[in-house]
Amino acid sequence: MTATAEAVAQSHASVVVTSRLPDSVERTLARDYHARLFDRDDPMSAEALREALAGHEVVLCTLTDRLDRAMLTAGAGRVRLLANFGAGTNHIDLGAARDLGIRVTNTPGALTEDTADLTMLLILAAARRAREGDAEVRERRWRGWRPTHLLGTRVSGATLGIVGLGRIGQAVARRAAAGFGMTVRYHGRRRASAEAEAASGATFAPELEQLLHECDIVSLHCPATPETHHLIGAPALRCMRRDAFLINTARGDVVHEDALIAALQDGTIAGAGLDVFEREPEIPEALRTLPNVFALPHLGSATRASRVAMGECAVRNIAAYLRGEPLPDRVP
Ligand code: DGY
Repeated sequence: MTATAEAVAQSHASVVVTSRLPDSVERTLARDYHARLFDRDDPMSAEALREALAGHEVVLCTLTDRLDRAMLTAGAGRVRLLANFGAGTNHIDLGAARDLGIRVTNTPGALTEDTADLTMLLILAAARRAREGDAEVRERRWRGWRPTHLLGTRVSGATLGIVGLGRIGQAVARRAAAGFGMTVRYHGRRRASAEAEAASGATFAPELEQLLHECDIVSLHCPATPETHHLIGAPALRCMRRDAFLINTARGDVVHEDALIAALQDGTIAGAGLDVFEREPEIPEALRTLPNVFALPHLGSATRASRVAMGECAVRNIAAYLRGEPLPDRVP
Protein backbone atom coordinates (compact mmCIF):
# COMPACT_ATOMS: atom_id res chain seq x y z
CA MET A 1 0.00 0.00 0.00
CA THR A 2 1.37 3.49 -0.82
CA ALA A 3 1.77 5.96 2.00
CA THR A 4 -1.26 7.94 0.72
CA ALA A 5 -3.46 4.85 0.31
CA GLU A 6 -2.39 3.71 3.74
CA ALA A 7 -3.31 7.07 5.23
CA VAL A 8 -6.74 6.87 3.56
CA ALA A 9 -7.30 3.28 4.76
CA GLN A 10 -6.27 4.20 8.28
CA SER A 11 -8.40 7.31 8.45
CA HIS A 12 -11.47 5.34 7.33
CA ALA A 13 -10.95 2.55 9.78
CA SER A 14 -13.52 2.45 12.49
CA VAL A 15 -11.68 2.49 15.81
CA VAL A 16 -13.24 2.91 19.21
CA VAL A 17 -11.43 3.30 22.52
CA THR A 18 -13.06 2.04 25.71
CA SER A 19 -11.11 4.03 28.29
CA ARG A 20 -9.35 7.33 28.78
CA LEU A 21 -5.73 7.09 27.55
CA PRO A 22 -2.67 9.32 27.93
CA ASP A 23 -3.04 12.53 25.90
CA SER A 24 -0.32 11.78 23.37
CA VAL A 25 -1.86 8.38 22.57
CA GLU A 26 -5.33 9.89 22.18
CA ARG A 27 -3.90 12.56 19.86
CA THR A 28 -2.37 9.87 17.62
CA LEU A 29 -5.59 7.87 17.57
CA ALA A 30 -7.67 10.95 16.74
CA ARG A 31 -5.25 12.15 14.05
CA ASP A 32 -4.55 8.87 12.26
CA TYR A 33 -7.78 6.98 12.77
CA HIS A 34 -10.49 9.50 13.68
CA ALA A 35 -10.94 7.12 16.57
CA ARG A 36 -13.95 7.50 18.84
CA LEU A 37 -12.35 8.33 22.17
CA PHE A 38 -13.79 7.79 25.62
CA ASP A 39 -13.85 10.93 27.69
CA ARG A 40 -14.58 9.54 31.17
CA ASP A 41 -12.01 8.09 33.53
CA ASP A 42 -14.25 5.12 34.39
CA PRO A 43 -14.83 1.75 32.80
CA MET A 44 -17.23 1.72 29.87
CA SER A 45 -20.70 0.37 30.68
CA ALA A 46 -21.67 -3.08 29.40
CA GLU A 47 -24.20 -1.53 27.06
CA ALA A 48 -21.68 0.91 25.58
CA LEU A 49 -19.19 -1.93 25.22
CA ARG A 50 -21.73 -4.03 23.30
CA GLU A 51 -22.36 -1.10 21.00
CA ALA A 52 -18.64 -0.56 20.52
CA LEU A 53 -18.17 -4.19 19.48
CA ALA A 54 -21.16 -4.14 17.19
CA GLY A 55 -20.30 -0.89 15.47
CA HIS A 56 -16.50 -0.79 15.10
CA GLU A 57 -13.92 -2.95 13.40
CA VAL A 58 -11.20 -2.20 15.94
CA VAL A 59 -11.83 -1.92 19.67
CA LEU A 60 -8.97 -0.65 21.82
CA CYS A 61 -10.04 -2.23 25.09
CA THR A 62 -8.51 -2.71 28.51
CA LEU A 63 -8.58 -4.90 31.59
CA THR A 64 -11.75 -3.43 33.10
CA ASP A 65 -13.80 -4.49 30.04
CA ARG A 66 -15.47 -7.84 30.70
CA LEU A 67 -15.18 -9.40 27.29
CA ASP A 68 -16.60 -12.82 28.09
CA ARG A 69 -18.33 -15.11 25.60
CA ALA A 70 -21.76 -13.61 26.26
CA MET A 71 -20.49 -10.08 25.67
CA LEU A 72 -18.51 -10.99 22.56
CA THR A 73 -21.45 -12.92 21.14
CA ALA A 74 -23.98 -10.21 21.97
CA GLY A 75 -21.73 -7.56 20.50
CA ALA A 76 -20.55 -9.61 17.52
CA GLY A 77 -20.92 -7.38 14.54
CA ARG A 78 -18.14 -5.41 12.98
CA VAL A 79 -15.38 -6.04 15.50
CA ARG A 80 -12.37 -7.89 14.08
CA LEU A 81 -9.57 -6.73 16.36
CA LEU A 82 -9.42 -6.32 20.11
CA ALA A 83 -6.25 -4.29 20.70
CA ASN A 84 -5.89 -4.66 24.44
CA PHE A 85 -4.23 -1.88 26.43
CA GLY A 86 -2.41 -4.10 28.93
CA ALA A 87 -0.46 -7.32 29.06
CA GLY A 88 -2.99 -9.51 30.88
CA THR A 89 -5.87 -10.81 28.78
CA ASN A 90 -7.80 -12.80 31.37
CA HIS A 91 -10.77 -10.43 30.96
CA ILE A 92 -11.15 -11.64 27.37
CA ASP A 93 -12.56 -15.05 26.50
CA LEU A 94 -9.88 -15.91 23.97
CA GLY A 95 -11.67 -19.09 22.87
CA ALA A 96 -14.84 -17.13 22.13
CA ALA A 97 -12.84 -14.47 20.28
CA ARG A 98 -11.25 -17.19 18.16
CA ASP A 99 -14.64 -18.77 17.43
CA LEU A 100 -15.99 -15.40 16.34
CA GLY A 101 -12.97 -14.59 14.14
CA ILE A 102 -11.81 -11.73 16.35
CA ARG A 103 -8.07 -11.27 16.75
CA VAL A 104 -6.56 -10.14 20.04
CA THR A 105 -3.33 -8.27 20.75
CA ASN A 106 -1.78 -7.06 24.01
CA THR A 107 1.08 -4.83 25.17
CA PRO A 108 3.77 -7.07 26.66
CA GLY A 109 7.13 -5.52 27.39
CA ALA A 110 5.77 -1.99 27.75
CA LEU A 111 5.26 -2.26 31.49
CA THR A 112 7.87 -4.76 32.58
CA GLU A 113 10.33 -2.48 34.37
CA ASP A 114 7.72 -0.40 36.18
CA THR A 115 5.82 -3.46 37.39
CA ALA A 116 9.08 -4.96 38.62
CA ASP A 117 9.91 -1.71 40.44
CA LEU A 118 6.52 -1.76 42.12
CA THR A 119 7.08 -5.36 43.15
CA MET A 120 10.22 -4.30 44.98
CA LEU A 121 8.22 -1.54 46.64
CA LEU A 122 5.69 -4.09 47.90
CA ILE A 123 8.42 -6.44 49.10
CA LEU A 124 10.12 -3.68 51.05
CA ALA A 125 6.89 -2.18 52.35
CA ALA A 126 5.54 -5.51 53.57
CA ALA A 127 8.79 -6.71 55.14
CA ARG A 128 9.68 -3.35 56.73
CA ARG A 129 6.17 -2.57 58.04
CA ALA A 130 5.75 0.61 56.01
CA ARG A 131 2.00 0.60 56.43
CA GLU A 132 2.15 0.62 60.22
CA GLY A 133 4.89 3.24 60.26
CA ASP A 134 3.04 5.49 57.82
CA ALA A 135 -0.16 5.20 59.89
CA GLU A 136 1.71 6.18 63.07
CA VAL A 137 3.10 9.27 61.39
CA ARG A 138 -0.20 10.35 59.84
CA GLU A 139 -2.16 9.71 63.02
CA ARG A 140 0.43 11.45 65.23
CA ARG A 141 0.95 8.26 67.24
CA TRP A 142 4.77 8.14 66.95
CA ARG A 143 6.36 8.35 70.39
CA GLY A 144 9.95 8.63 69.17
CA TRP A 145 12.82 6.30 68.29
CA ARG A 146 13.01 3.09 70.35
CA PRO A 147 15.31 0.08 69.92
CA THR A 148 12.34 -2.25 69.64
CA HIS A 149 9.99 -0.06 67.62
CA LEU A 150 8.27 -1.66 64.58
CA LEU A 151 10.97 -4.21 63.89
CA GLY A 152 10.66 -5.73 60.46
CA THR A 153 12.31 -8.41 58.37
CA ARG A 154 15.64 -7.93 56.55
CA VAL A 155 15.16 -8.02 52.79
CA SER A 156 18.84 -7.92 51.76
CA GLY A 157 20.17 -11.44 51.45
CA ALA A 158 16.73 -13.06 51.80
CA THR A 159 15.53 -15.88 49.56
CA LEU A 160 12.96 -14.78 46.99
CA GLY A 161 10.67 -17.24 45.23
CA ILE A 162 9.21 -16.17 41.92
CA VAL A 163 6.16 -17.93 40.53
CA GLY A 164 6.30 -17.41 36.76
CA LEU A 165 9.66 -16.40 35.29
CA GLY A 166 8.28 -14.37 32.38
CA ARG A 167 9.38 -10.85 31.51
CA ILE A 168 8.28 -9.31 34.81
CA GLY A 169 9.43 -12.25 36.92
CA GLN A 170 12.90 -11.98 35.35
CA ALA A 171 13.02 -8.22 35.88
CA VAL A 172 12.17 -8.73 39.56
CA ALA A 173 14.78 -11.47 39.86
CA ARG A 174 17.46 -9.19 38.42
CA ARG A 175 16.62 -6.40 40.86
CA ALA A 176 16.49 -8.77 43.81
CA ALA A 177 19.81 -10.44 43.01
CA ALA A 178 21.80 -7.40 41.89
CA GLY A 179 20.32 -4.78 44.20
CA PHE A 180 19.58 -6.77 47.33
CA GLY A 181 21.92 -9.74 47.15
CA MET A 182 18.96 -12.08 47.32
CA THR A 183 19.02 -15.73 46.40
CA VAL A 184 16.33 -16.16 43.76
CA ARG A 185 14.40 -19.37 43.09
CA TYR A 186 11.56 -19.74 40.63
CA HIS A 187 8.79 -22.10 39.76
CA GLY A 188 6.74 -22.30 36.58
CA ARG A 189 4.84 -24.82 34.54
CA ARG A 190 7.98 -25.34 32.52
CA ARG A 191 11.61 -24.67 33.23
CA ALA A 192 12.71 -21.34 31.66
CA SER A 193 15.35 -21.17 28.95
CA ALA A 194 19.01 -21.31 29.93
CA GLU A 195 19.33 -17.65 28.80
CA ALA A 196 16.46 -16.54 31.04
CA GLU A 197 17.94 -18.40 33.97
CA ALA A 198 21.40 -16.95 33.36
CA ALA A 199 20.12 -13.39 32.87
CA SER A 200 17.95 -13.47 35.97
CA GLY A 201 20.19 -15.56 38.20
CA ALA A 202 17.14 -17.57 39.29
CA THR A 203 17.27 -21.32 39.84
CA PHE A 204 14.38 -23.68 39.14
CA ALA A 205 12.26 -25.31 41.81
CA PRO A 206 10.35 -28.11 40.03
CA GLU A 207 7.67 -28.25 42.76
CA LEU A 208 5.67 -25.23 43.87
CA GLU A 209 5.45 -26.61 47.42
CA GLN A 210 9.23 -26.79 47.58
CA LEU A 211 9.55 -23.15 46.50
CA LEU A 212 6.92 -22.00 48.98
CA HIS A 213 8.65 -23.82 51.78
CA GLU A 214 12.14 -22.52 50.99
CA CYS A 215 11.48 -18.82 50.49
CA ASP A 216 11.30 -15.79 52.77
CA ILE A 217 9.32 -13.91 50.17
CA VAL A 218 7.11 -15.38 47.42
CA SER A 219 6.20 -13.11 44.51
CA LEU A 220 3.56 -14.01 41.93
CA HIS A 221 4.19 -13.23 38.25
CA CYS A 222 2.17 -15.87 36.42
CA PRO A 223 -0.78 -15.04 34.15
CA ALA A 224 -4.33 -15.65 35.33
CA THR A 225 -5.48 -18.80 33.56
CA PRO A 226 -7.80 -21.66 34.56
CA GLU A 227 -4.64 -23.50 35.73
CA THR A 228 -3.46 -20.68 38.00
CA HIS A 229 -6.90 -19.81 39.40
CA HIS A 230 -6.55 -19.94 43.22
CA LEU A 231 -3.09 -21.46 42.82
CA ILE A 232 -2.28 -19.92 46.19
CA GLY A 233 -5.04 -21.24 48.42
CA ALA A 234 -5.02 -22.65 51.94
CA PRO A 235 -2.81 -25.69 51.13
CA ALA A 236 -0.21 -23.54 49.36
CA LEU A 237 -0.24 -20.96 52.14
CA ARG A 238 0.37 -23.73 54.66
CA CYS A 239 3.52 -24.65 52.73
CA MET A 240 4.88 -21.14 53.31
CA ARG A 241 6.89 -20.29 56.36
CA ARG A 242 5.31 -18.42 59.25
CA ASP A 243 7.84 -15.61 58.82
CA ALA A 244 7.33 -15.38 55.03
CA PHE A 245 5.61 -12.74 52.89
CA LEU A 246 3.38 -13.14 49.85
CA ILE A 247 3.56 -10.51 47.10
CA ASN A 248 1.05 -10.30 44.27
CA THR A 249 1.36 -7.96 41.29
CA ALA A 250 -0.02 -10.51 38.83
CA ARG A 251 -3.79 -11.02 39.07
CA GLY A 252 -6.06 -11.23 42.09
CA ASP A 253 -7.61 -14.56 41.34
CA VAL A 254 -4.28 -16.38 41.39
CA VAL A 255 -4.76 -16.13 45.16
CA HIS A 256 -7.76 -17.45 47.10
CA GLU A 257 -8.48 -14.20 48.91
CA ASP A 258 -10.45 -15.69 51.82
CA ALA A 259 -7.69 -18.24 52.44
CA LEU A 260 -5.11 -15.47 52.36
CA ILE A 261 -7.05 -13.41 54.88
CA ALA A 262 -7.26 -16.40 57.22
CA ALA A 263 -3.52 -17.04 56.83
CA LEU A 264 -2.71 -13.41 57.60
CA GLN A 265 -4.99 -13.41 60.63
CA ASP A 266 -3.84 -16.67 62.19
CA GLY A 267 -0.12 -16.19 61.53
CA THR A 268 0.26 -18.89 58.87
CA ILE A 269 2.31 -16.26 57.02
CA ALA A 270 3.84 -13.01 58.26
CA GLY A 271 2.38 -10.55 55.79
CA ALA A 272 1.46 -9.63 52.24
CA GLY A 273 2.08 -6.93 49.67
CA LEU A 274 -0.81 -6.75 47.22
CA ASP A 275 -1.41 -4.69 44.09
CA VAL A 276 -4.22 -6.84 42.66
CA PHE A 277 -7.43 -8.31 44.07
CA GLU A 278 -9.98 -10.91 43.19
CA ARG A 279 -12.92 -8.56 42.66
CA GLU A 280 -11.37 -5.21 41.78
CA PRO A 281 -12.08 -2.49 42.70
CA GLU A 282 -13.57 -4.19 45.77
CA ILE A 283 -11.05 -4.98 48.45
CA PRO A 284 -12.22 -7.03 51.43
CA GLU A 285 -12.34 -5.11 54.69
CA ALA A 286 -9.66 -7.37 56.22
CA LEU A 287 -7.15 -6.63 53.48
CA ARG A 288 -7.78 -2.92 53.94
CA THR A 289 -7.33 -3.00 57.70
CA LEU A 290 -4.94 -5.80 58.69
CA PRO A 291 -1.65 -4.23 59.83
CA ASN A 292 0.42 -6.91 58.09
CA VAL A 293 -0.96 -6.07 54.62
CA PHE A 294 0.46 -3.37 52.40
CA ALA A 295 -2.03 -2.78 49.59
CA LEU A 296 -2.06 -0.61 46.47
CA PRO A 297 -4.84 -0.10 43.90
CA HIS A 298 -3.41 -1.97 40.87
CA LEU A 299 -0.59 0.50 40.22
CA GLY A 300 1.98 -1.89 38.71
CA SER A 301 2.17 -0.13 35.35
CA ALA A 302 1.06 3.27 36.61
CA THR A 303 3.86 5.51 35.37
CA ARG A 304 3.50 7.98 32.54
CA ALA A 305 6.26 6.13 30.66
CA SER A 306 4.55 2.73 30.87
CA ARG A 307 1.07 3.98 30.06
CA VAL A 308 2.31 5.90 27.00
CA ALA A 309 4.36 2.88 25.88
CA MET A 310 1.30 0.64 26.33
CA GLY A 311 -0.79 3.01 24.21
CA GLU A 312 1.87 3.22 21.51
CA CYS A 313 2.11 -0.56 21.49
CA ALA A 314 -1.66 -0.90 21.03
CA VAL A 315 -1.50 1.66 18.19
CA ARG A 316 1.30 -0.33 16.50
CA ASN A 317 -0.88 -3.42 16.59
CA ILE A 318 -3.83 -1.52 15.14
CA ALA A 319 -1.64 -0.10 12.37
CA ALA A 320 -0.32 -3.56 11.50
CA TYR A 321 -3.85 -4.97 11.42
CA LEU A 322 -5.06 -2.21 9.10
CA ARG A 323 -2.10 -2.73 6.79
CA GLY A 324 -2.85 -6.43 6.68
CA GLU A 325 0.53 -7.23 8.25
CA PRO A 326 1.30 -9.82 10.95
CA LEU A 327 0.29 -8.50 14.35
CA PRO A 328 3.37 -7.76 16.49
CA ASP A 329 1.74 -8.78 19.75
CA ARG A 330 -0.91 -11.29 18.79
CA VAL A 331 -2.34 -13.28 21.69
CA PRO A 332 -2.79 -16.86 20.56
C1 DGY B 1 -1.63 -5.42 32.67
O1 DGY B 1 -1.05 -4.91 31.73
O2 DGY B 1 -2.33 -6.41 32.52
C2 DGY B 1 -1.45 -4.80 34.00
O3 DGY B 1 -2.15 -5.45 34.99
C3 DGY B 1 -1.83 -3.33 33.95
O4 DGY B 1 -1.18 -2.72 35.03
